[in-house]
Amino acid sequence: MVNPTGPEHVRVLGGQGTVIGDGNTIYQTFTNAPASISSHIRVREFATIVAERTRGFVGREFVFAAVERLLVAPGFDSGYVVIRGEPGIGKTSLIAELVRRHGHVHHFNVALQNIRSAHDFLSNVCAQLVVRYGLSHAALPPEATAGGGFLSRLLAEAVEKAPDRRVVLLIDALDEADDLGVAVGANRLFLPAVLPDGVHIVATSREVHDYRLAVDSMDEIALRDDDPHNRQDIAQYVRDFVQANHDPMRERLAGWGTTVEEFADLLTARSQGNFMYLVAVLRDIRSGRIDVERIGDLEQLPRGLRAYYLRHWRAMMAADPELFRTLYEPVICMLAVAHEPVSAADLSRWTGLSPNRVRGVLRDWREFLNEERTDGAPTRYRLYHASFQDFLRDEVALDEYHEAIAAAALGKLGL
Ligand SMILES: Nc1ncnc2c1ncn2[C@@H]1O[C@H](COP(=O)(O)OP(=O)(O)OP(=O)(O)O)[C@@H](O)[C@H]1O
Ligand SMILES: [Mg+2]
Repeated sequence: MVNPTGPEHVRVLGGQGTVIGDGNTIYQTFTNAPASISSHIRVREFATIVAERTRGFVGREFVFAAVERLLVAPGFDSGYVVIRGEPGIGKTSLIAELVRRHGHVHHFNVALQNIRSAHDFLSNVCAQLVVRYGLSHAALPPEATAGGGFLSRLLAEAVEKAPDRRVVLLIDALDEADDLGVAVGANRLFLPAVLPDGVHIVATSREVHDYRLAVDSMDEIALRDDDPHNRQDIAQYVRDFVQANHDPMRERLAGWGTTVEEFADLLTARSQGNFMYLVAVLRDIRSGRIDVERIGDLEQLPRGLRAYYLRHWRAMMAADPELFRTLYEPVICMLAVAHEPVSAADLSRWTGLSPNRVRGVLRDWREFLNEERTDGAPTRYRLYHASFQDFLRDEVALDEYHEAIAAAALGKLGL
């Protein structure tokens, strides 16, 4: 799943007037803002996420309707709506689609991209609010990122300026945010305990024990894998995929002697309601990595996302154990422990492998990676999805890779 959208793509969205969704002019507005404000806005990263996660977006009307109901519910004039769900069920995609449709002010916490601090959040969101609602602040004051006070003030000012006196702020992945520098007892990301009337914050989180949010007014939506609506969306995604990839998929389905409907039913069950599973397995079926010759009966498809990762990991190991041990495993595991996107040169230094060999691994594993291209800088790589990092953490001992990165960093410092 190499992400082809580099800065060129973002420039198209930001600078040349392409509108993302109905009435969404947020990206154009940001590029016209003064640098003292716009430098804080993470337009490039976020436009890329939105474009990538909404391509081929399916369904979710039941969630959008539930959110909309809550936003106009009597007695809920302001407050938080938290959407909870397991890894890979589609929370980031949901927020991305809401951004695309409505252009609300937004922030994505992305641990693999090292966007996870309260500082990242506050500077980005405060700057977006100033630009979006034309608030009179020429720059962000230092206190903007030191606590939630300035954000509260901007939200109140934004409501005054909003034509319908309503402001919605979208935040993805509270669970990926860290609490470094956030006072004990304060909310995650310094989120205000009380929101001004007319302000709603719609946030997502994995099912974690505690996402550190003590607020006056909150409602939750659970995105459940076994919800019939979720299963319907999953089945629709399979049907759409078969139609969009008609030739290779017809061949595979004929090999298994199955119809589109039977195939959609089986995959829905095997995915256990998980979109990430579908994306990965359908991609492998389309490419022929999974077909009747290789796995036999369709019944042999993995059950759930973790089983898919495990099978893929073991298949790559079995295909060439030496290559796997000396090249694949070190490079992929380094990516799993890196705290941010890294270049092939970094990976080469940490693993002691030649840059060419590292590039070969990156090519062979490209579906599991995300590429970031920036003008004039080397391409940087990260794992595509946090669920793969979770799998590696549980399946492979990663300690030695942490140590290798630490040792390389110390070497660089000359210690
Ligand atoms: N409604 C949808 N339509 C089409 N594709 C989707 C949909 N929802 C999710 N996907 C795809 O499924 C994959 C996983 O989705 P996503 O990253 O949104 O999951 P997540 O719940 O945010 O996971 P995590 O908790 O690990 O962050 C992505 O590749 C995404 O593009
Ligand atoms: Mg996510």
